Amino acid sequence: MPVPIVLDVDPGHDDALAILLARADPRVDLLAITVVAGNQTLEKCVLNTRRVCTVAGIDDVPIAAGADTPLARPLRIADDVHGESGLDGPAFGEPTVALDGRPAVQLIAETLRAHPEPVTLIPTGPLTNIALLLREHPDVRSRIREIVLMGGSTGRGNVTPYAEANIYVDPEAADEVFSSGLDVTMVGLNITHQALVTDDVVQRLRAIGTPLADTCVQMMTFFGSTYGELWGMPAPPLHDPVAVARVIDPSLVRCVDAPVVVETRGEHTAGATVVDLHHLSGRPDTTRVAVELDRERFWDVVVGAVASFPPLP
Ligand code: RIB
Ligand code: CA
Repeated sequence: MPVPIVLDVDPGHDDALAILLARADPRVDLLAITVVAGNQTLEKCVLNTRRVCTVAGIDDVPIAAGADTPLARPLRIADDVHGESGLDGPAFGEPTVALDGRPAVQLIAETLRAHPEPVTLIPTGPLTNIALLLREHPDVRSRIREIVLMGGSTGRGNVTPYAEANIYVDPEAADEVFSSGLDVTMVGLNITHQALVTDDVVQRLRAIGTPLADTCVQMMTFFGSTYGELWGMPAPPLHDPVAVARVIDPSLVRCVDAPVVVETRGEHTAGATVVDLHHLSGRPDTTRVAVELDRERFWDVVVGAVASFPPLP
């Protein structure tokens, strides 16, 4: 039976591939897509979500707009990484996929209540929508199977020396999610940097030969250019699909149990995920932490997902 999932995104080039993977792989059932401000403003992230769904022909999954600002801080976008549009590279036409009229938190809550089985939440942006869901709809906690989020790091950050972007943008929301008592898996930079979109991966995408695959190549080319300019990396890490892959096939992503707390007050460390891998703090193992990726099988799953979309009529 496919695992029912809800994706909460801030597209974002890697979010775009996460949407395609979540829709295409038969081992998960994408019930809804919600959008949060992060990589770009909410308006741009919503437009990008609709653009990706339009070019992929995904017109049967409700999309809802969520929070446009973090719980307690001003929004900090990543236009240096994702560009002015938040999805620079391809020239997208006007999206035809509509936006659901409900706010994101309402869509998630109604989806959870209506589904016969508990649902897995896969946030790949700041955790603002998820924190608001738990605040405003505490009854749905029992309808959440687990939360598998892209964010944090067992090591250094990518926005400040110790903070990863999704956590840094809204550390208060992240703290509420990590300390919620729900089953939380952290897919952090330490593992997503094992998912570099190297030239061989780009060539595999290009070889698919469909317009959607070409769009993915253009997205990855832009994404790679900014990672090269900003960090001198030879290839960009495809962060968000690693969280989806963990739900699709847990054997793709090895995890360990460890206490994780979010620093919300540090002058120099706000947004850091303090991952106690060696159990020095005496805190309980509250979080599952992803540590190792089966790269070869991961790329087979990602490329296979993109290839599975038929060309649009
Ligand atoms: O730090 C990487 C994360 O921040 C990814 O989810 C990327 O899309 C941005 O949201
Ligand atoms: Ca993201």
